[in-house]
Amino acid sequence: MKGESAVKLSGKIAAVTGGGGGIGRAAAETFAREGAAVLILEKDEKMGRETEEKIAADGGRAEFFALDISDWQKVQDVFGEIGEKYGGIDVLYNNASVFWGTKDAALDVLDVAVFEQIIRINLFGMMYCSKAAIPLLKKRGGGSIINTSSSCGLIGIPNCDAYSASKGATISLTRSMAVEFGPEKIRTNCIAPAAIHTPMIYESDLNKPTFDEQKFLTQGTPIRRWGTAQDIANIALFLASDDASYMNGAVLVADGGITVS
Ligand SMILES: NC(=O)c1ccc[n+]([C@@H]2O[C@H](COP(=O)([O-])OP(=O)(O)OC[C@H]3O[C@@H](n4cnc5c(N)ncnc54)[C@H](O)[C@@H]3O)[C@@H](O)[C@H]2O)c1
Repeated sequence: MKGESAVKLSGKIAAVTGGGGGIGRAAAETFAREGAAVLILEKDEKMGRETEEKIAADGGRAEFFALDISDWQKVQDVFGEIGEKYGGIDVLYNNASVFWGTKDAALDVLDVAVFEQIIRINLFGMMYCSKAAIPLLKKRGGGSIINTSSSCGLIGIPNCDAYSASKGATISLTRSMAVEFGPEKIRTNCIAPAAIHTPMIYESDLNKPTFDEQKFLTQGTPIRRWGTAQDIANIALFLASDDASYMNGAVLVADGGITVS
């Protein structure tokens, strides 16, 4: 662990949805290394507990809470429990989402029920957690909410219309929340990643027979590599910390230049 003076989240309580895997796990570990007590809100119990144990083994503080973010009642229960145990929180990282590359599709062939399910998890889940967390952030005198969009929220990408709709709405809701809760010292910002090498990427690209990874790495991405979960965790840490104390309503694009190429 770093010395107390070097850490950026000393004394903070940070909740990370989807903290069991991919970007969420990297962020949970990063926040803990930077001094935060990390609450891992994750639907996969095995992965959530693994993150919790890893952080504890490294000398950090973490607690796993089993949570499907698309279940409003459960979200209220878990944040109620967090309020009783911790009194409040300083950071909510709305990271959990699904991509469902085999079910999501172009609107004309997309199953309406699938559209509803993806919106329920990605958009409603983010809204539920934010709604339940805001009173806990207020109790600590303000804090930071970090939402997660995607390149799909910024540009048109085929065959994932439900995911794209959820990620576009995430940007709009980020801006509304920034305006609504800025006066209460709650900053709301959003990260828009693309091509981050996590399990989700296997849903979207790598498993498709048409996907040519070599071509992607030599032509498809200006920075000529996959992004890493740590690349995004570093941005989440910045937004969570006082280094970003004047940032509110921002969308930080982290995609190696894909959306500008
Ligand atoms: N990987 C990428 O290239 C990429 C690109 C753009 C945006 N993103 C976004 O970044 C975020 C993290 O993605 P990732 O690549 O780490 O994905 P991932 O699939 O590797 O990890 C997602 C985590 O969220 C959890 N989760 C899923 N549904 C949940 C639910 N209903 N309740 C609670 N937990 C749930 C999963 O169990 C998993 O631990 C997502 O919002 C994703 O849309 C990722």
